[in-house]
Amino acid sequence: MTDTTILENLKQKALGELQAVESAEALEVWRVTYLGKKSELTAVLRGLGTLPVEERKAVGALANVVREELETSLDARETAVSDAHMGVAGDIDITLPGRTWLAGRMHPVTRVVNEITDIFSSLGFSIVEGPEIELDRYNFDALNIPKEHPARDTMQTFWVDDGAEKDDRHVLLRTHTSPMQVRFMEKYKEPPFRIIVPGRVYRYEATDASHLPMFHQVEGLMVDKDVSFADLKGALYEFARRFFGPNRKVRFRCDFFPFVEPGVEMSIECASCLGAGCRVCGNSGWLEILGAGMVHPNVLKGVGIDPEIYTGFAFGIGVERLPMLRYGVDDIRLFYSNDLRFLRQF
Ligand code: PHE
Repeated sequence: MTDTTILENLKQKALGELQAVESAEALEVWRVTYLGKKSELTAVLRGLGTLPVEERKAVGALANVVREELETSLDARETAVSDAHMGVAGDIDITLPGRTWLAGRMHPVTRVVNEITDIFSSLGFSIVEGPEIELDRYNFDALNIPKEHPARDTMQTFWVDDGAEKDDRHVLLRTHTSPMQVRFMEKYKEPPFRIIVPGRVYRYEATDASHLPMFHQVEGLMVDKDVSFADLKGALYEFARRFFGPNRKVRFRCDFFPFVEPGVEMSIECASCLGAGCRVCGNSGWLEILGAGMVHPNVLKGVGIDPEIYTGFAFGIGVERLPMLRYGVDDIRLFYSNDLRFLRQF
């Protein structure tokens, strides 16, 4: 066999085997076998000196061509093998860095609503919900707020166009969750009742650090025989203690709401300034978080419940105030500006 034939056979054999090589280790074995110091190719190159001049040239040139071809093929196979190893195939390149998984979370206001309802559920209150688009009758009249009552002015109302004349409109966005007191009692008629009503309310007001045209309330209502003001205070103190912990100061003061008598407001020591006074609490050191009182006899009579037999208390908690107080958030607008840097902190 001439050297030329040896080289041709060698090349066919080496390239054939190379296609079957699947790992880095097998590649190295292949390299040593066909390109290493003890390979046939090296032997041919070493033996060139013993050949006659004419043959030496031809065999030498061919040997170099074969070596180059084997080396190029080795490189290509190396790349293919390592790519296959890394999963680079078609469109998927698993060597690219992964994308961060953005886990969703509950909005702080939703969380607080759930916390409030959990606390009151454990005190025996049932959760009910009512319509955000409400009738004047439930939002005002049945709550002892007749047409010309000045209390209507304190709740700037978004009216819904129901085709009626300006002074005779009946449909509105509820300005508080209290209409559900009436809807519930009207429907179920027979006390005892113990309910809480979480939901959105709307007021046509200028926006600032503590006011928004939409916010949340949780209404509470308890009606039974012998329900007293002490029961009201007991329930609300317990709520404040569980929500804010035992160390935050709580204050009750007289307040007026047409649908309760007597009426009170409950305030909590401001978390932003801890009582010193700041823009969140209007420099008073306190933040009002709810209105409350004993259900007015007129409201009970209106739904056919005898106020001589039954008494009750009601309260309305301003929800957004609570996370502001607890976390020291100084601007209510932050809850609704969809800034994830803010929302992800809760
Ligand atoms: N509905 C009143 C408000 O929005 C709060 C309130 C509820 C007061 C129940 C007393 C009793 O301001």
